[in-house]
Amino acid sequence: MSSKGTVLVTGGAGFIGANFVLEWLSLGLGTVVNLDKLTYAGNRGNLASVNENPQHIFVEGDIGDVGLVAKLLTEHGPLAIVNFAAESHVDRSIHGPAEFISTNIVGTYRLLETARAHLQTLSGSEQETFRFLHVSTDEVFGSLEGHAPPFTESNQYLPNSPYSASKAASDHLVRAWHHTYGLPIVVTNCSNNYGPYQFPEKLIPLTIHHALTNRPLPLYGDGQQRRDWLYVTDHCAAIRAVLDCGRIGETYNIGGQAEKANVDVVHTLCDILDAERPRPDGRSYRQQIEFVGDRPGHDRRYAMDAGKIERELGWKPAETFETGLRKTVRWYLDNAEWVERVVSGSYRDWMQKNYSNR
Ligand code: NAD
Ligand code: TYD
Repeated sequence: MSSKGTVLVTGGAGFIGANFVLEWLSLGLGTVVNLDKLTYAGNRGNLASVNENPQHIFVEGDIGDVGLVAKLLTEHGPLAIVNFAAESHVDRSIHGPAEFISTNIVGTYRLLETARAHLQTLSGSEQETFRFLHVSTDEVFGSLEGHAPPFTESNQYLPNSPYSASKAASDHLVRAWHHTYGLPIVVTNCSNNYGPYQFPEKLIPLTIHHALTNRPLPLYGDGQQRRDWLYVTDHCAAIRAVLDCGRIGETYNIGGQAEKANVDVVHTLCDILDAERPRPDGRSYRQQIEFVGDRPGHDRRYAMDAGKIERELGWKPAETFETGLRKTVRWYLDNAEWVERVVSGSYRDWMQKNYSNR
């Protein structure tokens, strides 16, 4: 397809989905039908700036609701489904895996079946342009040894957490629906994202929020686990590139070439905050760091080789880790009200559950 026209985005009220929707509309690429269940992670406030935009059609609902999705596909005839909808937090998957199985596996299965039935109603040329793009993660590959080369698309799937196992299962289903039924799919596997609208349960926004509210900055275990970090709008640009020119049936790894130890990420955040919003007592935010009990089964290292998408589609990240992190901190400083709104109620219960016994 070309990345211009109507798309059905699922999970577009969440962190990456909302960034994708806002960019799609601001770039004038066409209409977005945005299907989101509005779980704790979905927030209509993320989409406030497009509330009045007639090209944004928000629908509250579940990707597993076959009748609803079929109706949306018939009514709007999108060129693509971009499937962001998922339960996405590893720690939550450890405390309660059921929702991960239900949305990430069963939900994706139902969405695939609905897309397959819809495809059969399209003309030959419409079938040729239609895409099912499934958004996935580097975590499906499991944990890398210290000096092993970064993950390529041909690495074995070795997921270790309920979250990554559920994403791996969904990737396999997507692959099989192509192989068996000819559904025109593409899969993207991306590293850790950060940026505006990320729910403050994930490392970077949690650290910023806790720093500014004078709470401990929790680092699991020895803080030496390594992740590759990508600024969210670079991920959105990569997805558009794959929609545009990605080869059907292929998977594309996406990463920021920014592999960092967690403790270094938190130190860098403290340093930026020390400069941008110094603590009233003049001491560094680093003194708020607390090493806490480790995450069970914690993957030690992820790193991505994004050579394929660069070679084939010409995509490269526009932000470095330093520029992206600075933008992110500024966004959270400028959007304190957004943070206050999302950290009330059930967020407090989650913090209590996840951190009280570490
Ligand atoms: P998120 O948790 O912020 O948002 C998920 C969204 O999906 C929410 O708006 C939620 O309401 C919605 N949703 C959940 N279940 C649904 C259902 N059954 N039907 C419809 N909507 C539902 O997640 P995110 O961080 O924006 O991640 C989006 C996607 O990208 C996920 O598939 C995730 O696995 C993948 N991914 C995330 C990262 C990352 O670092 N955040 C990295 C790589 C891949
Ligand atoms: P997270 O943002 O939850 O993403 P993921 O688990 O999907 O990589 O965590 C990123 C890294 O930070 C991971 O190694 C776990 C670690 N971490 C902490 O050390 N402390 C925390 O409070 C959180 C939420 C994560």
